[in-house]
Parts: sequence; structure tokens; C-alpha cells
Amino acid sequence: MIIAIDGPTASGKGTVAAGVARHYGLKRLDTGALYRAVGLAVIDVGGNPSDEAAAVAAAKALDLTAIDETRIRSSAAGLAASKVASQPAVRAALLAAQRAFAADPAGAVLDGRDIGTVICPDADVKLFVTADLPVRTERRLNELRSRGEQISFEELQAQIAERDRRDTSRADAPLRQAEGAHLLDTTHLSIEGAVEAACRLIDAALARP
Ligand code: DC
Repeated sequence: MIIAIDGPTASGKGTVAAGVARHYGLKRLDTGALYRAVGLAVIDVGGNPSDEAAAVAAAKALDLTAIDETRIRSSAAGLAASKVASQPAVRAALLAAQRAFAADPAGAVLDGRDIGTVICPDADVKLFVTADLPVRTERRLNELRSRGEQISFEELQAQIAERDRRDTSRADAPLRQAEGAHLLDTTHLSIEGAVEAACRLIDAALARP
């Protein structure tokens, strides 16, 4: 069983994907982590994430098993990720690894921006997770502050809005609700509530002939 989960930054899709994977006993791939790792690799060596040659080289050299889970979560890595992700050659370089993960007969949960549209268009269940911008900003602010990063609500909200714009307006694999994807708005949901709602949607979708 393949479950595809897409949505914008801090919509709760990562938390939902992790909870859903646990609930159904499936392995999970956070595809945003791949783009973050590529963006981070470029800025780590003083490169420009908008430089296609540098970004593609970093994507081709990416070792999925050696991603620094802590450092890729910084806002700088997120911004760099959004820039490398807008380049078709970078997306192409990361496609095979994602498809290979999804090809496991044991099934998988993948979350990102283009899972239901491009990576796994034939997924058994597709979810599109959203939440209002101020709520997403508040969530990401708490996450960054707990990591010791200082940033104002206004600055972060502007960053997230910019990232949304870039993710939804890029020509290649823009963020959008895939055909047949079930909408899950987590604005007023707790973490547990969001995971429960996702599992209800999945169970209902699987029960339909
Ligand atoms: O979900 P996230 O914030 O970790 O994603 C970081 C960036 O990577 C985001 O700006 C969009 C990009 N991304 C993408 O283009 N396609 C994906 N499947 C996952 C992430």
C-alpha cells in the first residue's frame, strides 16, 4: 500500500505522515528532507542554491542514509531547499531514489509536494494537508525557537509565504492538490487529532471499492 501525502510548509503533513506510517506499520520517506539536504550541501560550501550546476551536483552526490536530521531543519536550509527544488534538473536527479523507495512491495508512506501528482500518481490513497498561514507560522516558530533560532513571527510568516509562492508557481511539479486527493485541514486540530483524521480518511478510502 502506498500513501501519498502532500501539502505546504508546516501544514502538519510531516507529523501526519509519521503518525500514519506508525499506525499502518509502513516505512516513511520525508521527501522534503532530500531537498533540504541538497540545499544545505550547496550553502555549506558557500555555493548559491539557485546555481543549477552546483545544485544538481549536490543532488547527484546525496546519500540518503547520511542526512543530518538536525541541521536540515534550519530556516536557512528550508529556504535553500525551496530554491534547489524549483530546478527541474534537481528534481530529475532525485526522482529515481523516491520511486525506488515507493517500489518496495511492503508499501510506504511518502510526503512532500509532488508525491500524488508526480512521484506516486497511482498511490492507493492521497492526502492533501493544509492549515491557515498564521497557524503554520506559529507552529514553525515554536519548532525553530525550540532549536534556539531567533526569528520574528512577521519575518517567518513572510518567509513561509515566499516559499508557498515559489512551491505553487514553479513550472515543474508545482504544489497542488492531486486528482483524487483527500483534503485534510489541520488548522484547528491537535497532532493526535490530525493523525486520527488522516487515518479515518485513509480507512474510508480503502473501504471504497
Ligand atoms: O516540506 P519541507 O519544508 O521540508 O520542504 C522543503 C522544500 O523542499 C520546500 O520548499 C519544497 C521542496 N519540496 C519539493 O519541492 N518537493 C517535495 N516532494 C518535497 C519538498
